Amino acid sequence: MTVTVGIDKMGFYTPGMYLDMTDLAHARHDDPNKYLIGIGQSKQAVIPPTQDVVTMAANAASQFMTPEIKQSIAMVLFGTESGIDNSKATAVYLAHLLDLPQTTRAVEIKQACYGATAGLQLAADYVRVHPEAKVLVVGADIARYGLRTAGEVTQGGGAVAFLVTANPQILALDEVSSYHTEDVMDFWRPVYRTEALVDGKYSTNVYLDFFKTVWTEYQRQTSRKIADFDAFVFHIPFTKMGRKGLRQILPEATPTHQAELTAAFEASQEDNRNVGNLYTGSLYLSFLSLLRHGDLSAGKQIGFFSYGSGAEGEFFSGKIQPDYQQGYDESAISQLLTKRRRVSVAEYEEIFNQRLDTIGSDQRLPVDEESAQYYLAGRLNEQRQ
Ligand code: HMG
Repeated sequence: MTVTVGIDKMGFYTPGMYLDMTDLAHARHDDPNKYLIGIGQSKQAVIPPTQDVVTMAANAASQFMTPEIKQSIAMVLFGTESGIDNSKATAVYLAHLLDLPQTTRAVEIKQACYGATAGLQLAADYVRVHPEAKVLVVGADIARYGLRTAGEVTQGGGAVAFLVTANPQILALDEVSSYHTEDVMDFWRPVYRTEALVDGKYSTNVYLDFFKTVWTEYQRQTSRKIADFDAFVFHIPFTKMGRKGLRQILPEATPTHQAELTAAFEASQEDNRNVGNLYTGSLYLSFLSLLRHGDLSAGKQIGFFSYGSGAEGEFFSGKIQPDYQQGYDESAISQLLTKRRRVSVAEYEEIFNQRLDTIGSDQRLPVDEESAQYYLAGRLNEQRQ
């Protein structure tokens, strides 16, 4: 008998501050409509030095962690491109913070924004062989391009954590998926840099080409067509990018279906529009946004496009499960987003330059405003506190 495997629980975290895109446009002497409509972003998460990918991941995962779940976690797969150590995996720090059993395997996965999808697929394959096991998968990042760069409007940050299990509560994954790898220099970050390098326009073209390639290949493998889907969820570096992805395939649908797919896309971009790029977490925040704001019911078929610069693309699919709304904490997520404090451009710039991981010496961070359960208190003897 085949086991149904997929996403059972989801959690999300982004820090308590945001930058308004109209404020940023004014400060950069740009037309706000370029940011709000042209790029499609309204707010951007501002990441204080008291939060890094480990603490953000712990805050996201703790939304669904119970003692019972902890005991059955066999593996932690941490997708990130904002790692804090070249040797020790973020997953090991995370397993400790969450107090997971020492019988848990814990590793970090890197391939730009694709890391969490690699985690999801490896986890699903593992659970198909070990149906009693649960795998914790995380996508956590801080998207940084630099002050006054073209990419600045597409920054953001946060973490999405999810549990991959048999008989999942949220999404049953289809076993088939199509993927494509090519050595491309569209976006990269050499180890000596704290900000990414990007060939912006080129990266948007590669993204669209990869989507076309994996969508065509998925259809060839499955004989499925656009008519078989109720929604498509995209990796969203900025919402216009996902919109362009959808527009590429919309002509394959009937006019009524086009309207339904567009409405589903609007729901799936809502939270990303207010947080910005999460890199590895972006596709999964978009899925969470669809769950929270979309018109869904059991059995709806969802298509996912994952993209990581450099580059790797994958198209996969799954079915919404009857109790999907019990798989995430709606009130915690909505409070997190609505209670954020708007910071000025000057405050954002100061915070942007205050990163602990770029400072070599011991440091204690001011945590007066930190309300998160997990936060970085400083560094002592080259060790995170
Ligand atoms: P830019 O040069 O500042 O913007 O860079 P633009 O001039 O191309 O304008 C953007 C859009 O705004 C255009 O619309 C303009 O027409 C429109 P489009 O033609 O694209 O539909 N516009 C206006 N609209 C309304 N009112 C106005 C107005 N003015 C202009 N007044 C760029 C934009 C995205 C290139 C830049 O922000 C950038 O480099 N971002 C970072 C790279 C990126 O996000 N790439 C996405 C694909 S790669 C990817 O997804 C992977 C990634 O997540 C990393 C990873 O995998 O790890 C990035």
